[in-house]
Amino acid sequence: MKGNFVYHNPTKVYFGKGALQNLGGELAKYGKTVQLIYGGGSVKKNGIYDAVVSVLKACGKRIVEDGGVMPNPTTEKLKEGIKIARENKADLLLAVGGGSVCDYAKAVSVSVHCEEDPWEKYYLRFEEPSCEIVPVGCVLTMVGTGSEMNAGAVITNREQKLKIGHVFGSEVMPKFTVLDPEFTYSVPRRQMVAGIYDAFNHVCEQYFSGDDDNVSDRLAEALMKSIVASSRVAVKDPENYEARSNLMWAATWALNTLIAMGKDTDWEVHMLGQAVGAYTDATHGMTLSAVSLPYYRHILPYGVKKFRQFAVEVWGVEEKGTDEQIAYMGLEKLREWMTELGVAQNISELGATEEMIEGIADATLVMDGGYRVLTRPEIVKILKESL
Ligand code: NZQ
Ligand code: ZN
Repeated sequence: MKGNFVYHNPTKVYFGKGALQNLGGELAKYGKTVQLIYGGGSVKKNGIYDAVVSVLKACGKRIVEDGGVMPNPTTEKLKEGIKIARENKADLLLAVGGGSVCDYAKAVSVSVHCEEDPWEKYYLRFEEPSCEIVPVGCVLTMVGTGSEMNAGAVITNREQKLKIGHVFGSEVMPKFTVLDPEFTYSVPRRQMVAGIYDAFNHVCEQYFSGDDDNVSDRLAEALMKSIVASSRVAVKDPENYEARSNLMWAATWALNTLIAMGKDTDWEVHMLGQAVGAYTDATHGMTLSAVSLPYYRHILPYGVKKFRQFAVEVWGVEEKGTDEQIAYMGLEKLREWMTELGVAQNISELGATEEMIEGIADATLVMDGGYRVLTRPEIVKILKESL
């Protein structure tokens, strides 16, 4: 393991069928007013909203509604949430939904008592909160982002055409998370596979960096294998509890900071994907799948050892041929799996056009933890190959 680190994840997880029965015990720890945050209405159709409201009522809570959080939550919606929390003096922000709802709740939590513009402070200047943070709790309904057990909060500024994530400190992580795999049965297939690819790519982003023998990478390989195996069952049989529960737990561990320990980590696929998202408002996981192969083919020569390991350990590629040939076979297996899932493999199908390439390249942040620090012409080349 390289370097020293502090590992601290304070999120308490209630996992499994009927896990919502633990919500009351958690609610008892907070004040009377709960800001109930949810998305565009799926929770009302699948009954999760009613189930949560009945627990809130049984606990004597005052419920303040904050629905309509859109996928890829915006700065405008964030302002609305801050206003609701301030006017009602929310004691707890309860996110009931997917990553967008959880991220938004965290962004509200660090902004309620912040006197500056949160977009500028947290997303442009990347400063840490210096104010009181309103606690967040989650009831997760869609698998993928890991937001339920991490301190990330991605916000989109439509006017500035920027989609930026801030990974806060552990004090911003949800205090508790309810993970019931059955709550994910109603997720539409396209969203389900996008979430599966998102989780897989979170592991890749942490895996494709460094070449030392690192326990984080061995854990990463196990997570990737489990995600691939369970995805194959879940796409055929969406109500297969074993597959959906494995996916839920694997996605949580894919991005709850554990497998980043002792590693530099890459995150360039996310930077490219988020820039595509800023221009197209496309589903997050699809923006990642659409740029992944051109990006990985581009950086493979700089990280042959790890790409070879990926091919052999994750995909069972035979160790025949040169290291590069074996490594490329791993990417071919990845491509085959992406085709099986039906995730996007180019950005045109997400609404991106040739004319947008320069703007998307401008919006792409360059990271320096992977095998290659991209130059501007390399970013443009990868985006053009993704078209
Ligand atoms: O809005 P509703 O009506 O609830 O519908 C949602 C939404 O349309 C639907 N859905 C969720 N649960 C459902 C369901 N439909 C039926 N049944 C259910 N049980 O799914 C759609 C997508 O939801 P969303 O929350 O947007 O998806 P996801 O979980 O993929 O979150 C995406 C957001 O998370 C950010 C992304 O950038 C994006 O903004 N990310 C956050 C990260 C983090 N906190 O660490 C990391 C990720 O890399 C990601 O960037
Ligand atoms: Zn992601």
